[in-house]
Amino acid sequence: MKKSNSNKTRLDKLLSSLGYCSRSEIKTLLREKRIIINGVVATKNDTKVFHEEVKFDNEPLDPPLGMVILMNKPLGLICSHDEGEGKLVYSLLPQRWQRRDPKISTIGRLDKETGGLLLLTDDGQLLHRLTSPRHHVAKIYEATLERPLKGDEGAIFASGTLMLNGEKTACLPAKLTIVDDTHVTLEITEGRYHQVRRMFAAVGNHVVSLHRCTFGNLTLGDLEAGAYRLLCAEEISS
Ligand code: URA
Repeated sequence: MKKSNSNKTRLDKLLSSLGYCSRSEIKTLLREKRIIINGVVATKNDTKVFHEEVKFDNEPLDPPLGMVILMNKPLGLICSHDEGEGKLVYSLLPQRWQRRDPKISTIGRLDKETGGLLLLTDDGQLLHRLTSPRHHVAKIYEATLERPLKGDEGAIFASGTLMLNGEKTACLPAKLTIVDDTHVTLEITEGRYHQVRRMFAAVGNHVVSLHRCTFGNLTLGDLEAGAYRLLCAEEISS
């Protein structure tokens, strides 16, 4: 099918949205002949282009709007855009991706001292859908506990009646799997603030380490802490 010209974007708008330059800096890049459109050196900032027609420094452009990133978040990094709070998870991404507009945001958050599977996207609609309280995607966490389990935690978490401090509604049923008396996995379908730590606090225990290993059907595979990869369309819809 022939593409319609109406899907084309101005070159300066496209490159600035992908973080290559500001809309004023593009003139310099054009002068330096660093932008090629369909094999021809670009000369005008307002040329309408398709993303895939453009090369920068002889390389195809970064992925277009709608990227979803799966990261293995290391401990100590923060899910926030506020630089003042410490080292941010975004600092693991290429500099150019950090300048994209719309910006890349985390889909939900992991605490500074929680590691594991973290999703990030620049797709506002996807972000909204996956972080909505109505969206009950299952997430599995591995937790190490300070004290041995008492024995009734699995039933309490599964009951759908556990109230967390300061909350008005009970937690949805969650599934506890015991590895040994201080190591468990917990599957939850909500994303309340510090939920796993607060659930164990509510039954008189304390989480000493926490790692998210799944989000829906997604797993970390062999992704090392601090590494990330782009998801393909089938993985996102699964
Ligand atoms: N529950 C927590 O307590 N912390 C997280 O980061 C995620 C879930």
